[in-house]
Amino acid sequence: MKGIVLAGGAGTRLYPSARGISKHLMPIYDKPMIYYPISTLIQAGVVEILIVTTPADNANFVRLLGDGSQIGCSFEYAVQKQPNGLAEAFILGEDFIGTDQVALILGDNLFHGKGFDEHLADSTDPKGGVVFAYSVPDPRRYGVVELDESGSALNIEEKPERPRSDLAVVGLYLYDNSVIEVAKSITPSHRGQIEITDVNLEYLRRGQLDVKVLDRGVVWLDTGTVDSLSDASDFIRVLEGRSGLKIGCIEEVAWRRELVSSSDLRRLAEPLRSSGYGDYLLSLLRH
Ligand code: TTP
Repeated sequence: MKGIVLAGGAGTRLYPSARGISKHLMPIYDKPMIYYPISTLIQAGVVEILIVTTPADNANFVRLLGDGSQIGCSFEYAVQKQPNGLAEAFILGEDFIGTDQVALILGDNLFHGKGFDEHLADSTDPKGGVVFAYSVPDPRRYGVVELDESGSALNIEEKPERPRSDLAVVGLYLYDNSVIEVAKSITPSHRGQIEITDVNLEYLRRGQLDVKVLDRGVVWLDTGTVDSLSDASDFIRVLEGRSGLKIGCIEEVAWRRELVSSSDLRRLAEPLRSSGYGDYLLSLLRH
């Protein structure tokens, strides 16, 4: 399975900060926001990753992440000229996806929790589409899915005025290869975007949309607003401080999955020591 991280968009909810730099390069506590979705993909075994950026920010992402080979992955980049919608990723990424299945993750979404890894690992061979739903207090901000008693999806609505459930569709979606054709067939919405909800509705119409409800032990944070970005930083700081373990540490995740040898991890750690990040990587080798 291939992976796509969406790190374009306008980021207006973080203005003025996001005027000068992509929010995905801003720190959530001790590492850039984009480390979190990338580590989620690597944890799921997805190591060939396309990063979709804006024209202005592309070079900064390349400077930060390179071609991924340093952590045993392969990173490619695609520039999205305008924020034309999440599902445009499948059109921009057509050659990259080739004949494979694909996971799309939003660059400003953060997932954490034990059950989550298992859910994800169970979903990396989708026959159709797999989306995840999470109970939220304010569903009107999201795509909202309505389920029947057996847990099958009845309907999905994008930012509904009167939500029919409190289940938001989170920013991680897995599809079979037909998603490229599905994305191409979608007419842009009234806000001029190729909507991921329309992709999901097409799979629903075909009877091929699997909705997995995440339990409350899983934490899902959308970090695209001033408060949620700050809350996410606090959350990571507290959790990392208490456990002594980092969350979203791509080098560690790659090392644990044996994509990086211990001697390579030591080499990666050296230039990162003065922030404490490198010392953490070195401490992994000692334990
Ligand atoms: P959104 O939250 O929909 O939009 P945004 O991040 O541009 O923010 P704002 O509402 O503050 O202006 O985007 C969700 C994620 O998807 C985010 O990580 C940016 C990314 N994105 C793209 O890469 N391309 C797009 O066309 C859109 C709409 C979003």
